[in-house]
Amino acid sequence: MKRPLRLGVLGSGKGSNFRAIVEKIVDGQLDAEVRIVISDVDNSGILKVARDFKIPGLYVCPGRFRTRLEPEIEENIVRLLQEAQVELVILAGFMRIVKQPLLSAFPRRIINIHPSLLPKFPGLEAWKQALAAGERVTGCTVHYVEAAVDAGEILGAKTVPILLGDTPESLHARIQQSEHVLVPAVIAEIAERFHRRA
Ligand code: GAR
Repeated sequence: MKRPLRLGVLGSGKGSNFRAIVEKIVDGQLDAEVRIVISDVDNSGILKVARDFKIPGLYVCPGRFRTRLEPEIEENIVRLLQEAQVELVILAGFMRIVKQPLLSAFPRRIINIHPSLLPKFPGLEAWKQALAAGERVTGCTVHYVEAAVDAGEILGAKTVPILLGDTPESLHARIQQSEHVLVPAVIAEIAERFHRRA
């Protein structure tokens, strides 16, 4: 029997990608279920979106590091995801590097959304990097998360033109429109593969 793919979402920001995922689920276009949302930012937009849709959302104090989590905190996140029986973890604007034990708890089960055409412009504020480099085209990429940052196997990408007069804000907004299409589409493909295997 087909059953929805169980998702766990990690995010630090406003949660527009998370909202796009949930809207596709609600519309019946994505056979998945978000079991838990975890944020390292108290009162983040993504936790508000979770509340709007009555999906369990949790703030997890990130500890003393700025770019990653302490292993004990990751361990706690693993436990929360496992208790929620999550099969696929989505990093939807999660602004920390994921390490151990999260990576080994979910091998090829964590995907990330990145706002550039990887391997170009890994790291922070990739749209600003593309603009500063004088590119004519950039985009967004969804990839598996591995130990090397922004470097795992690419699952899908969408190109976005850079227009004359684009500002960082206008370009990022246009990239996000593409992310909102790409991310649910990649999750749907993964859900399909899960169903074929089940
Ligand atoms: C997205 O544009 C995503 O690509 C980016 O954060 C934004 C989150 O937006 N992620 C990264 O830069 C990861 N390195 P959202 O909170 O509205 O989904």
